[in-house]
Amino acid sequence: MVRTVAHNIRAVKETGSDLDVADKTRDQALRERAQRVLPNGMYGHMAVRPRLPDAYPQFFERTSGCRMWDVDGNEYIDFICAYGPMIAGYGNERIRAAADAQRERLDMANGPPAALLEFAEKFTRQVSHADWAIFAKNGNDATTVCNMIARSRSTKRKILVCETAYHGSQPWANRMSRGTPPEEHVHYPTYRFNDIESVTAAADAASGDLAGIVVSTYRHDIPHTQELVDPAFARKVREICDAEGAALILDDVRGGLRLSLDASWSEFGIQPDLSAWGKAIANGEPLAGVVGGDHYREAAEKIFVTGSFWYQGAPFAAASETLDVLAETDAPRYMERLGQQFRDGLYEQAQRHGHGILQSGPPQMPMLQFEDDPDTKKGFAFCVNALRHGVYLHPWHNMFLSVAHTEADIEEALEGTEKAFAELA
Ligand SMILES: Cc1ncc(COP(=O)(O)O)c(C=O)c1O
Repeated sequence: MVRTVAHNIRAVKETGSDLDVADKTRDQALRERAQRVLPNGMYGHMAVRPRLPDAYPQFFERTSGCRMWDVDGNEYIDFICAYGPMIAGYGNERIRAAADAQRERLDMANGPPAALLEFAEKFTRQVSHADWAIFAKNGNDATTVCNMIARSRSTKRKILVCETAYHGSQPWANRMSRGTPPEEHVHYPTYRFNDIESVTAAADAASGDLAGIVVSTYRHDIPHTQELVDPAFARKVREICDAEGAALILDDVRGGLRLSLDASWSEFGIQPDLSAWGKAIANGEPLAGVVGGDHYREAAEKIFVTGSFWYQGAPFAAASETLDVLAETDAPRYMERLGQQFRDGLYEQAQRHGHGILQSGPPQMPMLQFEDDPDTKKGFAFCVNALRHGVYLHPWHNMFLSVAHTEADIEEALEGTEKAFAELA
């Protein structure tokens, strides 16, 4: 495919992290403005500085399928997918049409449209452990609501969380930010993922007061190498929850619908009591959800949770259509196959160019690291090279495939990464 736009990415010094611009780009002009009105010029997980080399664009203008264009007109094949929400393609026509039609009829009112109920029926039919659903906006909401329901059922207080896992930036889940006193974590003892001894010890210490154990789809804590869940660990967590009458809470916010169209641990026979969803379920329309089994219905009925925008219609229409698109394309297997194609290509290129790389996690949510690269310097330089050749990768976060990626897109991306490896010192 011929690129219509020349890559005018800013020249990057050898460190791979400093900006060296001759002329100010639009992105840089926007960043200068942003510095005045946004903390640090940008906040959260989408802030380029200080998380990524400055050569990464901060502001984008347009998206289509698996591609995006920054404000300077540079085109990228995207392997981040808006950090997960895009799963069926930016601007997927069917999903957008469904959302727009609902928006046209009713988006906000004094009560929700039937689209909420229709999606609840469809999603609880699809997720095998689910009998009811509560919808919200963000993964933050979903994981927090799960904890409330777990406590509502048992009136116990402790919820075990993996020590380095991410379940949102809300205080109970956030040990890395200022502004959160340690007391927020008093009832959240920690365990290590895939470590049976550690989760057993944490559960023993909380025994009698254990309301739930939160687990991730698999270990995707940043910036650790990704680790698939050990089924023996999953079985042990289930066993502890059963013995204690505690809720097994599966956080499928990031991994949901990419590994499985069911709750991800159901694939190997472990059913959670509650699962949290978000990101991809409406292909980028704002929607998150909690689903649970009948044995947690009464507990769910006894809590009060809500939000001004939780009943908005368009995201439900988008979500129903997203489920159809994903089922029709056998999405998890499709993304797995394409992710493997990308992974194999990267491995072959790295070998040929004499670089040791580490590729972890499921192929549809791949992570790429360089061996002997403790400060990620090599990873930064490689990803900046890849950007210059039209491939948007991440040097320390898991990436995401979508059903909008095609074999041809992967081949084209590999042409870019071939040049990126060749240019790596
Ligand atoms: C596993 C997991 N849980 C919860 C969240 C929080 O989701 P949100 O950012 O939509 O609040 C995230 C976000 O990245 C996540 O990856």
